Amino acid sequence: MRLDKLLTTAGIGSRNDIKKLLKSHQVKVDGVVITTANLNVDTNLQNITVSGKEINHTSEVYYVMNKPAGVVSARTDKEHQTVIDLISEDDYREGLYPLGRLDRDTEGLVIITNNGPLGFRMLHPKHHVDKTYYVEVNDKLRADAPVFFEKGIVFLDGTTCKPARLEIISSSSEKSCATVTISEGKFHQVKKMFLAYGVKVIYLKRISFGGFRLEEDLPAGSYRTLTPKEKQLLKSYFIEKL
Ligand code: URA
Repeated sequence: MRLDKLLTTAGIGSRNDIKKLLKSHQVKVDGVVITTANLNVDTNLQNITVSGKEINHTSEVYYVMNKPAGVVSARTDKEHQTVIDLISEDDYREGLYPLGRLDRDTEGLVIITNNGPLGFRMLHPKHHVDKTYYVEVNDKLRADAPVFFEKGIVFLDGTTCKPARLEIISSSSEKSCATVTISEGKFHQVKKMFLAYGVKVIYLKRISFGGFRLEEDLPAGSYRTLTPKEKQLLKSYFIEKL
């Protein structure tokens, strides 16, 4: 939320009062004097004070969901159920959206928030946020596969992927299992990388995203609120420049 909007909704004063407070260096974010009214801030992640008094008002929420297959990772969809449809009435907030996209048939970790700029920064290519997927494919993953992924795969249309880390769990001509870690988010990237190697993905699940891991005991379709520690972790993605 914009700093001036936060301070007006927290009852600190009118827009004009806030302008004066900013101008007179009364407003601090994590100890730094802020004079820009439109800075995006979040009291979940930052310590915000006015004349030394902490502001606790918050309207941002953060959930981690285990997306089931068949559900779309979008705000709305005309045909299919979305991850937002799985949020209960009590937990629902205006502006909720998933950070990034998983294919409809992909399962796993999705962070959902109503904090707009966070997603943008977390997904921005320059931040190179790692995402790890558990993958099952329909054929053998030979010993040369990790090197193939490490070199940076080039798709048929010339798109070049950054180096990815492949760890083979098991391999046979019927089914192989592995984890793959990528730092970008090209459309159908994981499926296309395995196709470029010559095998087809038959099951895909995101198990981690930017330091967040999906717990085994969070059933598909369920979600929970981020812990205070996890919110602190998000902070590193949130702050760009004060
Ligand atoms: N890569 C894919 O191919 N699909 C996903 O859902 C996520 C990454």
